[in-house]
Amino acid sequence: MNGGLFPHKEKESDMNPVLQAIQTRKSIREYSEIPVPEETIREILEAAERAPSSKNTQPWKLFLVTGNALSALREDYGKAFDAGKVPELELSCKLFPLYRDRAMNLGKAIFEYKGILREDKEKRRLHDRANFEFFNAPQIFILAVNKKAYHEITLMDSGIFASHLMLAIHGAGLGCCPQTSTINYPDILRKHIPHSEDLRFLMIFPFGKPREGSHLNEFHTEREPIDSWFTEIRD
Ligand SMILES: Cc1cc2nc3c(=O)[nH]c(=O)nc-3n(C[C@H](O)[C@H](O)[C@H](O)COP(=O)(O)O)c2cc1C
Repeated sequence: MNGGLFPHKEKESDMNPVLQAIQTRKSIREYSEIPVPEETIREILEAAERAPSSKNTQPWKLFLVTGNALSALREDYGKAFDAGKVPELELSCKLFPLYRDRAMNLGKAIFEYKGILREDKEKRRLHDRANFEFFNAPQIFILAVNKKAYHEITLMDSGIFASHLMLAIHGAGLGCCPQTSTINYPDILRKHIPHSEDLRFLMIFPFGKPREGSHLNEFHTEREPIDSWFTEIRD
């Protein structure tokens, strides 16, 4: 960078609250057992729905699953995972080679951080299983769009909504982990989500109060240098 557009990096404490929220959000994978109060969930939804969408179409559908409904879903997921159920990919996810490398680097970094050795298959399995237990969060959001409305723009709208949702959760003093691994059992999701035959599931967000003192929640991910994805064009 030439320093013109980004002259200095402010200290977190000097930043405006929006930048600070964006800079400090991270994926949370260990939660307190205490459910999030309804009023807080309402506030999160009211903030998330301010997400912009193409022609203000707001194509997203969001489900909150908690209590016994979540226990039942978790139980079915756990059984399916343990039985080696093959994931059913409803969204394409073929990785471009450069991004495959980055994905592998993330996997390596998180296993190293958790002290899981490459050859320790059981610990790696349990790491993956934690996804299918929704990291034991006391509640989850499931994001979907109507199958008939699904196309690139509604997917983009839903992605922007997801970002607003994650920042709203963070802004409420909570945490979440966006997941796509867990949408790959759509038949199980359809069994638990009423009237969902016409839906395409996009993401699941286990969320809640981050577990106090959690080492895992301190896991930090790096980003590529801005110059690798940003280009300034002027005469
Ligand atoms: C579309 C999407 C899908 C993701 N799926 C998973 C997942 O299935 N399991 C998981 O542990 N993390 C998942 N993540 C979290 C990413 O690994 C995480 O956002 C990334 O490593 C950057 O870390 P940060 O969120 O802490 O900044 C997903 C994130 C996104 C945006």
